[in-house]
Amino acid sequence: MTVLGIESSCDETGVGILRGKNLLANVVATQESIHQLYGGIVPELASRAHCSRIDRLYWLALKRSRCVPSSLNAIGVTTEPGLKGSLLVGVSFATGLGYGLDIPVYQVNHLQAHLAANYLQPNLSFPALGLVVSGGHTTLFYLKDKISFQIIGSTLDDACGETFDKVARMMNLPFPGGPEIERLAKQGNPEKFRFPVPLLSPKSLNFSFSGLKTAVLYHLNRYGRKDVPDICASFQKTVTEVLREKVRRALEIYQVKTFLFGGGVMRNKTISKQLKEFLRSVGVMAIIPEGKLCLDNGGMVAIMTAALIESGVSPPERVIRVVPTK
Ligand code: KG4
Ligand code: ZN
Repeated sequence: MTVLGIESSCDETGVGILRGKNLLANVVATQESIHQLYGGIVPELASRAHCSRIDRLYWLALKRSRCVPSSLNAIGVTTEPGLKGSLLVGVSFATGLGYGLDIPVYQVNHLQAHLAANYLQPNLSFPALGLVVSGGHTTLFYLKDKISFQIIGSTLDDACGETFDKVARMMNLPFPGGPEIERLAKQGNPEKFRFPVPLLSPKSLNFSFSGLKTAVLYHLNRYGRKDVPDICASFQKTVTEVLREKVRRALEIYQVKTFLFGGGVMRNKTISKQLKEFLRSVGVMAIIPEGKLCLDNGGMVAIMTAALIESGVSPPERVIRVVPTK
């Protein structure tokens, strides 16, 4: 079984090809240089870039995996959540291709795909918990099995990666802000400043990062930009504390043995190391996708599609609905 995965929900165009348990190709065209000028993603520019790149990426993925179109057995495409115009590009491409090749096209939830990026790892046990920390989402999941999930917590305002991006912008750092903040934090003292740790009510599994963002803004307004590395380190430490506490609370309610992670923020070495250490201390296995699989990519969509097929889910008969982010 060879599955093609297509991702275009936000600002990365991704095409992945999975055969059995082998991810043969996973090509991504990032749009960082396009959106950098504006300090955030411009939806119309994102859709246009997807349009102009998706066909070339498809052929590149085929070449890298030494496949031909007729060797594909199924297609999976991200249909929700995301930017409407961006989603439509991937969905239109997948629908046309599925029609032309006469193969089924499956709809994939982007957040579920982030967690599915871990499904090629051995020794996964279900039920499990999952946490997606990306530019658009901070969402906690209870996963009954590979395909059934329930959202048990999510952000009430800014997403975690979005907060990294906005805080970086306040300090005139380039977009995306997460990697820049991580780089500068290495030179800073995480104990220098105490920002409020937003945890909401004692048992809440939801997140709220806008207060933390505002606290950094007030700090900058008051003291200026002279301690940027210390601000980065202290901010990153606060975010880590929030994530660790929410993970701890989730485990108090759902006593599982596996915790899956996904999303761009999990590329942050300090955050991932501390979450792993905490989970090890309570006897839970933490699984985090390696490098590129953390970010938006088509490989994770192909892996999720394979899980849907294995579980006997039927593809939609005809029209695929696009469900944008509210
Ligand atoms: O998962 P992703 O590629 O796209 C979305 O689905 O949003 O995540 C992108 C987000 C951006 O906000 C970016 O700043 C953040 O992930 N990010 C990081 C790091 N690398 C990427 N945040 C913190 N530390 C990093 N090293
Ligand atoms: Zn994502």
